[in-house]
Amino acid sequence: MKVTVVGAGAVGASCAEYIAIKNFASEVVLLDIKEGYAEGKAMDLMQCASLNAFDTKITGVTNDYSKTAGSDIAVITSGIPRKPGMTREELIGINAGIVKTVSANLIEHSPNVIMVVVSNPMDTMTYLVHKTTNLPKHRIIGMGGALDSARFKYRLAEALEAPISDVDGMVIGGHSDKGMVPLTSHATRNSIRVSEFLSTERLQQVAEDTKVGGATLTGLLGTSAWYAPGAAVSGLVQAIACDQKKIFPCSTYLEGEYGLSDLCIGVPVILGRNGIEKIVDVPLSDAEKAKMKESAEGVKKTNGLLEL
Ligand code: LAC
Repeated sequence: MKVTVVGAGAVGASCAEYIAIKNFASEVVLLDIKEGYAEGKAMDLMQCASLNAFDTKITGVTNDYSKTAGSDIAVITSGIPRKPGMTREELIGINAGIVKTVSANLIEHSPNVIMVVVSNPMDTMTYLVHKTTNLPKHRIIGMGGALDSARFKYRLAEALEAPISDVDGMVIGGHSDKGMVPLTSHATRNSIRVSEFLSTERLQQVAEDTKVGGATLTGLLGTSAWYAPGAAVSGLVQAIACDQKKIFPCSTYLEGEYGLSDLCIGVPVILGRNGIEKIVDVPLSDAEKAKMKESAEGVKKTNGLLEL
């Protein structure tokens, strides 16, 4: 199993690290445009191998896509991250050009690749890959919901004063501060609905804190987060590589599912060796349906800024 990670910045390097630590891939190629940068990160990560007990071989390359040839999965993290006060949508101009070039280069050397898009604004970048490549839709996966759901579970555990392993919950919709739809009515603590433990107001607060999860970190760090994004990507990559058939909310091209079409937005999907193997239809309340519709309108508005 060969995985390429494009972009050796904090998110890309963290992806490579978590993938290696989970020890399911034979090879990870880390690619960056900055001379020597990916090579350096790869060498540093490889020097963790004996300490962290992994056999995955990580190599770094400077913009040489021939070294990515035959990748089964490729993760695109390249582009600029947001600075404090910026929205993910403001990154579109620079990142669209980068993602278009990177995806074309990847496909040229790995025609059977499954692509995981992380660059922001992620739903629009996923749509861009859908519109500008010939990849079938089940091989184009946007990573946002897995991260947002991890942040939701963190906030739920905090509110419940419970261990995170006791908590389950999912965030669908667009990967944006306004567009996320945390499914509070479906969230559980060890199979009991969290509404049994938390007031409506507290749950509302959990949802709001979840939606600004990325912005909160950007404010604290001065740039966007990387550990949880990297861990979330590694979860998706592992589910595909190991044919796990796990459910994650991912951004995928919709053709009528959830009453939406001609956009990529986060909905629950089953991930296995073929990429997105099924879109799972979860019954939503009227309020959740309305939020999903509003979220889709926001994503479409950003898609409208693309020069396709
Ligand atoms: C975040 C970026 C990766 O949410 O979108 O942290």
